[in-house]
Amino acid sequence: MSQTGNFARRQADWRTILLTCARFWFARPGRTWVVVGLIAAVALADVTISLALGGVIGAVAAPAASNAALAIAWLLAGGAALICHALLRLSFDIVWNRVSINSMNALQAEAFSRVQRFSSAWHGDTFAGATVHRLSRARWAIDAIGVVIFSRMATPLLMILVIGTLVSIRLPIAGAVFFLVSAVYLWVSFELAARWVRPANVVSARLEADLTGAIADAIANNSAVKAFGAETREESRLAEAAERWSSKATVSMDRTSLMQTVQLGLWAVLQTSVLATLVVFAGDGGVTPADLGFAIAAILQLGGQLRGIGGDIRMLQRAFGEFGETMDFLTAPFDVSDPAAPQPMPAARGDIVFEGVTFRYGQRTPLFEQLSLRIEAGEHVALVGATGSGKSTFVKLLQRLYDIESGEIRIDGVNIGNVEQASLRRQVAIVPQEPALFHRTLAENIAYGRPESTKAEIIAAARKARAHDFIMASPNGYGTLVGERGLKLSGGERQRVAIARAFLSNAPIVVFDEATASLDTLTERMIQEAMQELMEGRTTVIIAHRLSTVRKADRIMVFDGGRIVEEGRHSDLVQRPHGLYRRLVGDEINRIEIEAA
Ligand SMILES: Nc1ncnc2c1ncn2[C@@H]1O[C@H](COP(=O)(O)OP(=O)(O)OP(=O)(O)O)[C@@H](O)[C@H]1O
Ligand SMILES: [Mg+2]
Repeated sequence: MSQTGNFARRQADWRTILLTCARFWFARPGRTWVVVGLIAAVALADVTISLALGGVIGAVAAPAASNAALAIAWLLAGGAALICHALLRLSFDIVWNRVSINSMNALQAEAFSRVQRFSSAWHGDTFAGATVHRLSRARWAIDAIGVVIFSRMATPLLMILVIGTLVSIRLPIAGAVFFLVSAVYLWVSFELAARWVRPANVVSARLEADLTGAIADAIANNSAVKAFGAETREESRLAEAAERWSSKATVSMDRTSLMQTVQLGLWAVLQTSVLATLVVFAGDGGVTPADLGFAIAAILQLGGQLRGIGGDIRMLQRAFGEFGETMDFLTAPFDVSDPAAPQPMPAARGDIVFEGVTFRYGQRTPLFEQLSLRIEAGEHVALVGATGSGKSTFVKLLQRLYDIESGEIRIDGVNIGNVEQASLRRQVAIVPQEPALFHRTLAENIAYGRPESTKAEIIAAARKARAHDFIMASPNGYGTLVGERGLKLSGGERQRVAIARAFLSNAPIVVFDEATASLDTLTERMIQEAMQELMEGRTTVIIAHRLSTVRKADRIMVFDGGRIVEEGRHSDLVQRPHGLYRRLVGDEINRIEIEAA
C-alpha cells in the first residue's frame, strides 16, 4: 500500500498553487480588495514615518532659529503616522482573519467533497491517516501562504516601490542603485528559495507525511499489534521512518540557514551602496540632510522588514509543499465518474443483467472474463464459492464501486454507467460482511440510509431486524453512542443494525454478504428471520456461507475463480456427487445427515 495512493508523486508548480489559493481568497472578492487597500495604506504610513524622520533631521540641521518649531511639527507628523500605522495594521488583521478563515473552510469543503467521491480503489490504496493529515495541513497551508503574501511580503514590496520613487525624484542615480540592488536581493532570495531550498523542503514534507501515516497505521491497528506482541517491531519501524525524515529535514533546514546568510550579505551591499551614492552626490547640493535622513530611516526600516523575508520564504516554501500535496485532491480525475449528463436511476424493480462483463483489479489478470448472468426482479439468489472467488467483487461491480473493462451491467434495462452513482447506490441496500458503523447514536446509525426517518420508523425497522431488544438493553437505548466511548457491538449485533438500516432504506435490491464468522445458533436464527422478512418482495443477492441460508434460495450460483461453474436449486446441485457445490457444502450436509440418523 502506498501512502499517497495512486497519485503520481508530482508537485504542482507554485503558479498553480497561487492561482488556486487566489480562487479561495477571492471567492468573496469585496473583503479581499479591502485587504489589498489596507496593505497599500500600511506601506504608505510606513514611508511617511521615514519622511517625518528625514524632516526632523533636515529642520535641526538648518541654522535658522525658527526651525525648532518645524522639527516639532515633523515629529508630531511622525507620531501621527505611527498611530495611523498601528490602526491600519489592526484593521488589516481583522479583515484578513475573516478572509483567511473563509478560505480555509472553502478549501476544506472542496477537498473533502472530492475525496469522498474518489473511487473505492483509491480509498483502498490510500492510508486514511495520511489523507486526514493532508486535509488538515491544507487548512494550515492556505492560511500560511496568505499571511506571508498579504501580511509580510506585500508591505515591504510596496515600500520598495514608494521609497525608490521618492529617492529617484531627489537623485535619479541613487534611485536607480536602490531599485537595482533591491531587485537583485529579491531575485536571489526567490531563486535560492525556489530552486535550492524548496526541493529539499518538499522531500522533507513528504517524509513527514509518511511518518504521520505510519503512526496512524500502527495506532489504528493496535489490536493486531497487541495480538502479535509486535510493539517493539512497530517502534523500530517508526524509528526507521523518523530516521529517513531527519536526514532530509537536516538538509532542508541547513539550506534555509545558508540562504538567510546570503540575504544578510546582500542587504549590507544594498544599504552601503545606496547611502554611498547619496553621500558622494551630497556635495553638489542636490541632496539635503533631510534626504539623507529619510534614506537612512527608510532603508533601516525596510531592512528590518526584509530581514524576516528568509523566514517568510521558508514558511511559504513549506506551505507550498503542504498545499501541493493537497492539490491532488482538488485536481485528480475521478476514476469512476458520473457521465456528463447523468440520468437519475429510475425507481427500480430490480432486474439485474451482467452481459459479457470483464473486470480486473489494477493490472492483475482479469477476475471476471465475459461474465454473463441475469437475476430477475424479485428473485432470491445465493452466491456460493470458495474464498477469493469473486463474490464480494460481484456486488461491488453492481454498486459501480469499480468500472468494468468491457461489457455492460444493467438494472431494469438501464446501463448503470449512465446514471448518477449516488442514485444507483440508493437502489441497492447492502448488509456487508463487516458493517461499518459511525461513532454516532444507534438511531443515527440505523437511519443512515434515510436520515429523515421518524423515531417510530427507526424503532419499527429495528424490531424487524430483531435489534430492538438489545438496543433497549443498552445504557441510553437508541441514543447510545456506538464505538469509542459508547457501546461496543458484537458481530451479530452489528449485522442486525445493518439489517435495520436496509429495512429503512427500502431499496428494491438487497445484498447480504453473510458474515463468515460463526454466530451462536440463537443469533443466527434471529438474523435469518430478519433476513427472510427483508427479502420479501425484493430482488435479493445473498453471499452465503451457511447451508441453512443457501437452501431457501430460488437459485444458487456457484462461483469459482470469477466464473459461474454451477447453477440451480439446492436439491439439484446436491445431486451432483463431484460438483463444486457438493464439495463446498458437503461437510455440513454430512453433519446434518449424521445428526438426523
Ligand atoms: N481492492 C482489491 N484490490 C485488488 N484485488 C482485490 C481487491 N479486492 C479483492 N481482490 C481480489 O479479488 C479476488 C476476489 O475477491 P472477493 O473479495 O470478491 O472474494 P470473495 O469471493 O468475496 O471472498 P470471501 O468469501 O473471502 O469474502 C481475490 O483474489 C482478492 O484478492
Ligand atoms: Mg467477500
